[in-house]
Amino acid sequence: MNLFVTDDLTGAATFCLERALNRALAGRERASFALSGGGTPVPIYRALARRAEVDWGRVDVYFADERCVPREHDDSNFKLVLENFLDELVGAVPAVHRMEGEDADGEAAAARYAALLPPVLDVVLLGMGPDGHTASLFPGHPLVDEGLRTVASLDDSPKPPPRRLTLTPPALAAARDVLVVAKGADKARALRQVLEGDDDPRPFPARLVRDRAWIVDAAAAGELGEGKS
Ligand code: 6PG
Repeated sequence: MNLFVTDDLTGAATFCLERALNRALAGRERASFALSGGGTPVPIYRALARRAEVDWGRVDVYFADERCVPREHDDSNFKLVLENFLDELVGAVPAVHRMEGEDADGEAAAARYAALLPPVLDVVLLGMGPDGHTASLFPGHPLVDEGLRTVASLDDSPKPPPRRLTLTPPALAAARDVLVVAKGADKARALRQVLEGDDDPRPFPARLVRDRAWIVDAAAAGELGEGKS
C-alpha cells in the first residue's frame, strides 16, 4: 500500500493521475481512465481539466460505477463527469464510454459494458464511503465475491439510488494503476478498518484495493495508527 496523507488532496490526486495517464500514453497510442462519482472527485475533475498536461484526445474515459437514472438526472455519475470534467476541458476531449444507467434492464446494460471494457484499465479513480464501500461494491453484498463478470448490476444499494452498475473485483484487480481518495472525519473509522484490519473485503469492500495508492486528508487519517503516513 502506498498511503499519502495531505490536506491538498486535490493537488496530490491531480498530480498522481496526470503522471499515471502520461505513463500509460508513453507506451501506447491510447490510455483508459475509469472515473467514479461522489463528492470527493469533483474538485479533482475540475483541476484535471484545467491544469493537467495530458493529451486528452488519446484517452478513453470509462466509469467505475453508475447510478441507474437518466443521464441528465442529478444522481448521474455521467452528468457529474460531464459538468465538472468534460465541459471544462479546453482543446482535445477524451472518447467517453458511458454506463447506460437509464436502461431498465440493468443486467443487459452491465453485459454491454463488459463487452466494451478493455481487459486492463490503465488508470482507475475510486472513492470510499463511510461504510467502506468502493465503486458500488457494498459491505456484505454478494458482488464483493464476484469472480467472473467484470461489470454487474445491483438493485439493493444501501446508498441511494438503489439500482446501480459497477465494476467488480476482477476488473479492479486487473487495473494497472488504481488511486483511491478519501476525505473527511466520517471516513476515519472505515479507513482504519480497510488499511489496518484483516484482508476480508466482505465487511469493508475497499479492502479489495487496499494495496493500491491512497490519498487521504488528515481528518480521514485521524484513526490510523502511528507510522502510517
Ligand atoms: C458513487 C461512487 C461511490 C463514491 C463513494 C464516496 O457513485 O456513489 O462511485 O463509490 O465514490 O461513496 O463518495 P464521496 O466522495 O461523496 O464521499
